[in-house]
Amino acid sequence: MIAVDIDAELQKKSPRQILKHALENHENIGISFSGAEDVVLIHMATQIRPDVRVFTLDTGRLHPETYAFLDRVREHYKIDIETLYPDAQAVQKLVTEKGFFSFYKDNHQECCGIRKIEPLRRQLATLDAWVTGQRKDQSPGTRTGIPVIQNDTNFAAPGKELVKYNPLANWSSDEVWTHIRSLEIPYNALHDQGFISIGCQPCTKPVGPNQHEREGRWWWEDATKKECGLHNTNIEK
Ligand code: ADX
Ligand code: SF4
Repeated sequence: MIAVDIDAELQKKSPRQILKHALENHENIGISFSGAEDVVLIHMATQIRPDVRVFTLDTGRLHPETYAFLDRVREHYKIDIETLYPDAQAVQKLVTEKGFFSFYKDNHQECCGIRKIEPLRRQLATLDAWVTGQRKDQSPGTRTGIPVIQNDTNFAAPGKELVKYNPLANWSSDEVWTHIRSLEIPYNALHDQGFISIGCQPCTKPVGPNQHEREGRWWWEDATKKECGLHNTNIEK
């Protein structure tokens, strides 16, 4: 079990120091990359471990700009990006029975469950630890209390321990973007079109002045439900 004092200690560290701790303590660790501003994690991690393992969940519903960006990151950092796919039969059944946009009618949990959660669970069964780009300021409804290091009881395979790191937890969106701009880190072209938080194309829209970034995600749903299941520990607390 992760001692609470490790989190208290890591909370005082910078994202780079937290990543260093994570990479030094786990050989079998992967960064979960969404193809958005969490690219800062790849930038930092490749300086510590150039062949760091990076994976992404291709739901089949991402924006063309996100696919282009994933390729750009692959080339820029000279890394493989393990690209994970949903079970074809499960997608086929969902779309055959409910069409391409069932999530607008009966919420996003079923589609996210098939296109994101099941492939993530498969991937995490092969790892001892994973790293995400979650931040406290991303979602007032669900993320204000996220730790920097936690035991991921949600995705741990039976009898196994899985550690989850959120090195950017205490960084604000401003800090992430200052870092991206000052180091000329490549970023998703959608960010220049008013998108802040980026997920799947049908479930993401740009936000206007004074809107929180999370308002552009699953906008037809309640703010407290805006987790797709990747980070369910946030709403189970
Ligand atoms: S989500 O749960 O609402 O979709 P969000 O877009 O805020 O998540 O991203 C938070 C973190 O979740 C990302 O920094 C990344 O670590 C992980 N993540 C989200 N979407 C993906 C994806 N498609 N592939 C891999 N990791 C992802
Ligand atoms: Fe499906 Fe939307 Fe979830 Fe993507 S974000 S997996 S399209 S419900």
